Amino acid sequence: MINVKAQACVFDAYGTLFDVHAAIARHRAEAGPDAERFSEIWRMKQLEYSWTLTLAGAYLDFWTLTERALDYAFARVPSVGRALRPKLLEAYLNLDAFPDVSETLTALKARGLQLAILSNGSPQMLAAAVQASGIAASLNAVLSVDAVRVYKPRPPVYALVTDRFGIPAQQVVFVSSNRWDVMGAASFGFNAAWVNRGRMPDEYPDVQPTRVIATLAELPALDL
Ligand code: LAC
Repeated sequence: MINVKAQACVFDAYGTLFDVHAAIARHRAEAGPDAERFSEIWRMKQLEYSWTLTLAGAYLDFWTLTERALDYAFARVPSVGRALRPKLLEAYLNLDAFPDVSETLTALKARGLQLAILSNGSPQMLAAAVQASGIAASLNAVLSVDAVRVYKPRPPVYALVTDRFGIPAQQVVFVSSNRWDVMGAASFGFNAAWVNRGRMPDEYPDVQPTRVIATLAELPALDL
């Protein structure tokens, strides 16, 4: 059960509120038949760089990692022409929010919850995405790992939430589509909801989500 005294509902950004594959989707015809594989490689390398740098005790901001991962994807999938590079980066800054985001945030806010984003994204990336998706008015805070210069799932990242709101971890509901992020959040003590849109197999069996939902639209009806 999610803690009945939840004070804040905090969302991961990329993959949870914003569709990371929307960038390639906007240019699918030009990207050609390998567009989907290209987008998967771009996303996985972006995340891999965040983990390897953090393990190495190093830090580069998420926009730099996004650019480097994109260049790696071009090298791995030569059928996607490099002429798309500026267009894909521009699209990544203005990703589409998933269709259920706006109404979900409005409904949760009406329940008196504080709402925030906690993301690997750089402050500039997050500001652009929040503005493009029109959700700024619903959010009490947009928190970036950039403040601590380590990436999820390191605990100091999740502590940005408890520090910002001055509440214990047990009063936070954290929502992510990334199972590894749910693992990090649950280990920190948050009530962690896994949005399993892609019906992916479960992972990290010893750190279970508090809830598993298929879409964000299910959140407001839950006993938070
Ligand atoms: C984020 C990554 C996990 O938004 O997508 O933090």
